[in-house]
Amino acid sequence: MDSKTKPTFSKSTGLPRKKFFRARAHSNPLSDSHFPIPISPSHVDLSLHFSKASSKKTEFADIGCGFGGLLISLATLFPETLMIGMELRDKVTEYVKERILALTKTSSGGGEYENISVVRTNSMKYVPNYFEKGQLSKTTQYV
Ligand SMILES: C[S@@+](CC[C@H](N)C(=O)[O-])C[C@H]1O[C@@H](n2cnc3c(N)ncnc32)[C@H](O)[C@@H]1O
Repeated sequence: MDSKTKPTFSKSTGLPRKKFFRARAHSNPLSDSHFPIPISPSHVDLSLHFSKASSKKTEFADIGCGFGGLLISLATLFPETLMIGMELRDKVTEYVKERILALTKTSSGGGEYENISVVRTNSMKYVPNYFEKGQLSKTTQYV
């Protein structure tokens, strides 16, 4: 189904509607065995996150990105930088994925928002599985 016709998406903007991605305010970080974790940074498949083939590495991480507002604002300010949001709550992560997808589709065609992505993970435990030492130049953390 096209994003514009799904009821979970706004007809006017094509963006996902938050009310269909409601989640508990908190998620138990100790119950995190039900999503895949790369065994090391070299096992992170960037093609799952960024559509353009590139040898670039992710440079910014928004840890506990919530609904992705900061990530989305940074996307156009640093268009050449790959950034990833890390979020523990599954529905919130799904919302951010859909929001980014919808933005890439509705953008002017210059590849906007193709430099951002989100992953569902427990950042307290798994940041080292995603990034090599010294890889990140900026992180935000508000969890
Ligand atoms: C206070 S909110 C901040 C959201 C966003 N950074 C902002 O400024 O609007 C904290 C977010 O971090 C997420 N979070 C909490 N613990 C986490 C963890 N261990 N790993 C990843 N995300 C986590 C929560 O689910 C929540 O969405």
